[in-house]
Amino acid sequence: MSETWEAILSSPTPKAWIDRALDSLDILLIDHAHCEKKAATSAISLIHKYPHYNLAKYLSPLAREELLHFEQVLRLIKKHDFQYKNLKSCKYAKTLYDASANKEPDKLKDTLIICSLIEARSCERFHVLIPHLPSSLSSFYSRLYKAEARHCDLYLDIFSEIFSEDWSQRLKRLSSVESNFINKKDEFFRFHSGY
Ligand SMILES: [Fe+2]
Ligand SMILES: [Fe+2]
Repeated sequence: MSETWEAILSSPTPKAWIDRALDSLDILLIDHAHCEKKAATSAISLIHKYPHYNLAKYLSPLAREELLHFEQVLRLIKKHDFQYKNLKSCKYAKTLYDASANKEPDKLKDTLIICSLIEARSCERFHVLIPHLPSSLSSFYSRLYKAEARHCDLYLDIFSEIFSEDWSQRLKRLSSVESNFINKKDEFFRFHSGY
């Protein structure tokens, strides 16, 4: 049976992105650290924004887990003698959120789908990178892969629990926005960039 992340993404990562990633392991790791930090931030911000849905039950443990990933990536950056620094974000998340509804409750529905898609793309990118990476990184990415696959499912489970409605049309539209973005040339290379 295929994993959820495979089922919800509309297209695979282009080979040109993989080539760029393998040529830019420093940026890959530094931007990956930022992604983990942002994943924790998004989870906390959802808890704060929607107190009536009791999202803390699921998203507080998720935020803690993402911060542990952040710390683990920071250690790897240090181990590889790279320098952690702030990077200009690519437009991946912004493109997805710009495509989401403005009014509640549709906004939260789209947000949960977007969070699941972002986790799905992370899984897919770990999956395509693992065979090409040095062993120090490939074993770490294999562990993270399992956690992010679980998060991908969790956001969809939260959707079903709160809204008990079919999310497939909403997912189809946002997944197509996601796929269009990653299949375009990008200004710079990032973990979720185009190629
Ligand atoms: Fe993570
Ligand atoms: Fe995650």
